[in-house]
Amino acid sequence: MRQKLVVGNWKMHGSRTQVRQLIESVAASTADLKKVEIAVGPTLLHIGFAAELCTSEDASHLKLAAQNLFTEPEGAFTGEVSAPMLAEYGVNYVIVGHSERREFFAETDQVVAAKFKATQASGMIPILCVGESLSQREAGTSAEVVLTQLNAVIQSAGIEALQYAVLAYEPLWAIGTGKTASKEQAQEIHHVLREHIAKSNATIAEDIRILYGGSVKAANAAELFSQADIDGGLVGGASLKAEEFVSICKSAD
Ligand code: 13P
Repeated sequence: MRQKLVVGNWKMHGSRTQVRQLIESVAASTADLKKVEIAVGPTLLHIGFAAELCTSEDASHLKLAAQNLFTEPEGAFTGEVSAPMLAEYGVNYVIVGHSERREFFAETDQVVAAKFKATQASGMIPILCVGESLSQREAGTSAEVVLTQLNAVIQSAGIEALQYAVLAYEPLWAIGTGKTASKEQAQEIHHVLREHIAKSNATIAEDIRILYGGSVKAANAAELFSQADIDGGLVGGASLKAEEFVSICKSAD
């Protein structure tokens, strides 16, 4: 049985005060949840601060997700942060292949695969994001697009690597638009992803968690999470509001 996972991707938001308030209030309101696993994803700058807050007794059930890393463990790469550095802070998950990184920072499938491997090499779990644009959906190529993105990682890291990974289906047209994929649209692609993995390894396909991301909110979380192949959510905007995020977490519990 796959444990549901809800991850807040805070993107480039948050002051120290907001990070503290958000972690403290999310932690306090989710302490009694039994089944769902919850992770928060502050900016890389705030990782150390968030890690300290999460190791306090009251927030120790919260996991920590980084939004990005660089592929090399160390070296002359001005401005970058490596996997071993994140691992040292107790980071559990690293988001790789987010469409904002692919689009605004020109990350190719090859770069994404390298980041996926770097994450695992430091003992953390990559959350690999895949998703199609609106024009790709309208052209009927959604499945093809997400499988190409997934295959790039499988070819580079091997199918077994998916044993220690999470997938996230994030259709670009649903990110930050308020337009959520319907539960049927999301379930269809999640099923495509799982079936594809099953062709190579049925156990990994059964075990891997596939999150949905794209305008997840309190009002739609429960119906999305009730779908057979949707194992939780990768939440952007709604994760910045404690009450809304907690309500999403409760829908997954
Ligand atoms: P929104 O929830 O703001 O649509 O963002 C989704 C996302 O990109 C999470 O990674």
